[in-house]
Amino acid sequence: MDEEAVREAGRILAEGGLVAFPTETVYGLGANGLDEKAAARIYAAKGRPSDNPLILHIASMEELAPLAAEIPPEALALAEAFWPGPMTMIFKKTPLVPLGTTGGLSTVAVRMPSHPVARALIRAAGVPIAAPSANTSGRPSPTKASHVAQDMDGKIDMIVDGGEVGIGLESTIIDLSEDVPTVLRPGYITEEMIRQVTGRVQVDKASLGQMAPDVHPKAPGMKYRHYAPRAEMTIYRGREEAAVSAIREALAQAASQGKKAGVICTRETEALYDAPVKKCIGSRAEPETIAHNLYDVLRAFDEEQVDCIFSESFDDNPLGGAIMNRLVKAAGHRIVECQE
Ligand code: TXA
Ligand code: MG
Repeated sequence: MDEEAVREAGRILAEGGLVAFPTETVYGLGANGLDEKAAARIYAAKGRPSDNPLILHIASMEELAPLAAEIPPEALALAEAFWPGPMTMIFKKTPLVPLGTTGGLSTVAVRMPSHPVARALIRAAGVPIAAPSANTSGRPSPTKASHVAQDMDGKIDMIVDGGEVGIGLESTIIDLSEDVPTVLRPGYITEEMIRQVTGRVQVDKASLGQMAPDVHPKAPGMKYRHYAPRAEMTIYRGREEAAVSAIREALAQAASQGKKAGVICTRETEALYDAPVKKCIGSRAEPETIAHNLYDVLRAFDEEQVDCIFSESFDDNPLGGAIMNRLVKAAGHRIVECQE
């Protein structure tokens, strides 16, 4: 870890500046979470709607009580099990938390990241760090410092480079401000892992991907088109062989129309496609590799200037819910069901 850089970044945060930094999930764009003016700069740099609340990042349990008005026993059990780590919990907020960081809501999202640089930075800043993912609003979240630079160069004060992140998908968000713990955004910590700790959990319907226009997600950010590459993307869902043959047909058709097509495939299926641009997202045998590479692959397609993207689907594993939640949004809900 570059300790000098962390000290400098901590000083910038304490003075109201903006610093991008690595966490174990994705890179965050940080500001002093108790300073409304600093938080406002985050919204400006990202082009983010101001009703979309920020997550406050802390480094120890003592930092939770000043932010959360009520900490139910289930929250303590979840913290014990999964903090520090890729889990965010929603609580009723205290007056200390400015409405400018919660999008005007009376609740606050809090996460204790495990990444050593994130932890050192929170300590150096001496305040909770408000940090959304460090991408321009609507673009794929950054998993490398170079992704942050693509979106934020000239708009923020500093990027702390901690190399590639580990997980590659944003944290699981669980609402503990109401009776039953509710998953608002799926992530690396799965519904099943939560149930083993709390005994009960429900999942906000809006987080499941297929969002009807009249469903209002409880996490405001879930309603926006997100993670999107510039080209139109279509997901082929169904049995692997059926999806592969449908994608092969779509590739042939795109070629006949003079379109430059890209395909998102896996180690297991890579050899089956003949496409202008092929991106192997990882291995079905190791779903963490798919999560890890997802955003990098989506960003890479923008550099290749493809006209359309065809993707396999990846729901046949424990991380499938979290992966497909992002992929379906990136595709703007364009899904072809493949039957045979
Ligand atoms: O892994 C992560 O969570 C990353 C890293 C940087 O920690 N952060 C991240 O933040 O993904 P962001 O802002 O991109 O996503 C936060 C999500 C948004 O969908 C937002 O609407 C929701 O959390 N959220 C934040 N506060 C909330 C609240 N009080 N009630 C409901 N949803 C909330
Ligand atoms: Mg985000």
